[in-house]
Formats: sequence, structure tokens, C-alpha cells
Amino acid sequence: MTDAPADLLTRLRAHGQDHLLTGWATLSESRRTAFAAQLERVDFAELERLYARRGESLSDFDPASVTPIAVEDASAVDATTLKLGEDCLRRGEVAVLVVAGGQGSRLGFDKPKGLFPVGPVSGASLFRLHAEKVAALSRKYGVAAPMLVMTSAATTADTRAFFEEQHYFGLPRGQVTFFEQGTMPALDAATGKLLLTAPGELNHSPNGHGGTLTALADTGLLADLKGRGVRHIYYFQVDNPLVDLAAPGFVGRHVAANSDASTKVVFKSRPDEKVGVLALIGGVCGIVEYSDLPAELADARDADGELLHRAGNTAIHLFSVAFLERVTQGAERLAFHLARKKVPYYDPATGETVQPTVENALKFELFVFDALPLAERWLTVRVNREDEFAPLKNATGADSPVAVRAAISDFHARRLRAAGVEVAGGVPVEVAALFALSDAELRAKIPAGTRVVVPTLFE
Ligand code: UTP
Repeated sequence: MTDAPADLLTRLRAHGQDHLLTGWATLSESRRTAFAAQLERVDFAELERLYARRGESLSDFDPASVTPIAVEDASAVDATTLKLGEDCLRRGEVAVLVVAGGQGSRLGFDKPKGLFPVGPVSGASLFRLHAEKVAALSRKYGVAAPMLVMTSAATTADTRAFFEEQHYFGLPRGQVTFFEQGTMPALDAATGKLLLTAPGELNHSPNGHGGTLTALADTGLLADLKGRGVRHIYYFQVDNPLVDLAAPGFVGRHVAANSDASTKVVFKSRPDEKVGVLALIGGVCGIVEYSDLPAELADARDADGELLHRAGNTAIHLFSVAFLERVTQGAERLAFHLARKKVPYYDPATGETVQPTVENALKFELFVFDALPLAERWLTVRVNREDEFAPLKNATGADSPVAVRAAISDFHARRLRAAGVEVAGGVPVEVAALFALSDAELRAKIPAGTRVVVPTLFE
């Protein structure tokens, strides 16, 4: 430890973190340089402040302050609003942003989730499905909509290599921008000390999907987009293959309302469904996570017998650039959430890796929906779950590959039937975005009398 750079040692000692240098002497020169640079980026004072909050209640909202939020129906959109959205898209004012930094631990896939082959007939990856929608959107509006891909230290290398290998799915390279979210170290819950995974390796993980917003600003990308005339950012999660990218009706409403943050919601099907709900909290737009929603609120019904708080979050948001500038600066920056987790770690005292049996560590994450209460004007738009929301989360059961492939196929079968195609029950079908993005395009392209009796990809 003594041959570690003196300034580094002094800094770590000042924060009681000099255990991190155990084993320094055994590290290669390049490892030392990388580790010193990593430690340089750690904000120890901030970690101390976060550690001091560890005893606070994890959820501090008052159920009495929660009232239902007004929800508009996506289908009820007039021609003027639609045109507003189309004009905005045509002027190139909308960028799409896919967040793909998560570790996808529940799915148990050994690569980033975006590489998962989810197309029911094509076997296309999530990234391909999204990129082809961006290409179709760009073709339709005659402008290259910027595609922003947010990755994390856990997913960057594989994601970039995949885009290269797949030739950017046909998009011009310059249309795609990758940027990386930050990471946060895990702390020993009992002592506040940072954990290691090995000598010279901090135990850290992506800083949550809210890290998207800070990374957008901190990397200079937000300012760059603004300079290129982008005024709205369409945010969605990599795991939802049904996302309807930048639909003009939704964009039009957002623009007409001069909204800071517009969110697509799907109605909850049962009180105990594990989805956060949009609601007014103390009179402003916010999300109550399902784990925080008390039974009396989850079960409450309106006069029509519908769930009172049924606006389930799809994590599809349209943010105005001006709003994002505001929430990524100074006092309005998002605050970290604390979670207690079982985190395996390297113990410098014994030189062993410890597999804890109880929650031993504190982890910190930013949540993107914490931006919503900072909006002065917001919008909540209800869409059909079957048409726009089928997140891939689990290895089996609900939200698993089997369920998501079926949801994609069912969606396209409904579109095809509406376009006059006879689709035999249970036969997987898929319509590539570049074949037909909208239902009108689909109707125009499909010859009369088309029948689908074997698995079919329209491309
Ligand atoms: P989830 O919270 O569902 O996490 O992320 P996950 O990584 O996909 O899966 P689990 O929980 O480990 O099983 C929702 C979306 O937010 C992104 C994910 O990539 C996904 O698109 N995300 C999550 C990030 O980009 N960064 C993060 O730090 C966390």
C-alpha cells in the first residue's frame, strides 16, 4: 500500500477508504493506472452523505396526498394535433433514445438484453426491431431521426460490437450515437466502506435508468442535440419490442400541450399488478411504485367500478429538451435511491471472495421517473397494452421470451386481419417495420386475398 501515490493514499485515508489499496503492490502498472483513474472519479463526500441516509425510510410519501391523474386516450386524436406531430417529426425535432444499460439479471441471458433474439418469425434482436423502426420513421418523414443508445460499463462493448457486426441494421452510422451512463460503487452496509470485487477492482454497477438524464447532459450530448435542432427526446426501454416509436399523435399532443414530460400508460388489469402507477402526488405528476402503493389505494374503485389508480407506467416518455436541461442541473438534479442487496465481495483482510447470505451492501440508483414531479406541464396518454407494451423481463412465465414472442405475433396478426388478411389461428406472423410502419401502409401493400397459414414474415 505504501508505494501507492501519496496523494491518492491521503485522499482515501481522509475518507476512511484506504483499505481499497490493499494489494496495490501486486497490481500491474496498467491496472494501477486504471484503478487510480477510477478512484479519481469517485465522489467520496457524496457517498458519505448517501451512507448517512441509510436509516431513512425508503418510501416517504403520504398516501393521503395521492389522487388520480387525468389520462387522455391515444385514439382520440384530432387532425390538427396529428399534423402538429407530423410537422415536428418532419422538421427533425425528435430524437429517439433507447436505454440499454441494465444488467438484465432476471432474464438470465449472457449478453446485453438488446441482443436477445425476440422476433417470433425473424428471430430479430430487440436492437434490430428498434433500429428498423427508426429507419422506417426516417424514411416516412424524410429526415434522419437521431437514434441515441444509452449503455453502461456492463453493456457498452457488446452493444457496440453488435451494431458493427450487424452493419447498424442498415442505418447510416452517423445516425446512431452511443453514450454511457455512470456507475455507483456498492458500500458495505455496516461500515460505509466501498467494496471490491478483486484487488484493484471496485465493486460498482450502473447508476440506474435515471443515469440516462445525467449522462445525456454530462457528456454534452444534450447540448449537441439542441444545436442540431432537436427539441424533444422520445425515451423508451430496450426490452419493449412493441414500442410505437414517436407516433405523430403522441408527439402532437405533447407539442400542443407544451408538455415538459409526456408518458404513455396502460391500464392495470388487477390491483396487485406489479407496475408503477402515474398519479398526482401532492398535486404534481409522479409515479407510485407498486411496492409503495398501499392496498387501500391499489384496490380503490371509481364510480364506474374501474380501478382509481390504473395508469400503469410503460416507461415511454417524451421529454422536452428544455425540461431535460433544467432537471440535469444544480439543485433539481435527481436524487439517489438506496437499496439493500446481497453483494458478493472480495475481503482484503482474508484475500477471499465472500458470498453473503444476508443483505450486506447498499447500492444506489437514479430513477428516470423521479424527473416527472419536476415537470411544470405534463401529459398522460393511455395506449392499448396489447399494441404497445410487452417488456421482456423474465426467463419464464410472464414477460418471458415465450410470452413476448406471442405478444408480438398477436399484435401483427391483429394488424394483418384489420388489413383484410386471413391469418390462421396460432400461426406466428411478423411485419417488419420497413415493410409497413403504419396500418395504412400495411393495407396499401397487402394484395387482396392474402392468407397466412404458415409462419410468415412480411418484409
Ligand atoms: P429494469 O429495471 O427492468 O432492469 O430496467 P434490467 O436490467 O432490464 O433487468 P433486471 O432488473 O436486472 O432483471 C428497465 C430498463 O432500464 C434500463 C434497462 O436496460 C431496461 O431497458 N436500465 C436499467 C439502464 O439503462 N440502466 C440501469 O442502470 C438500469
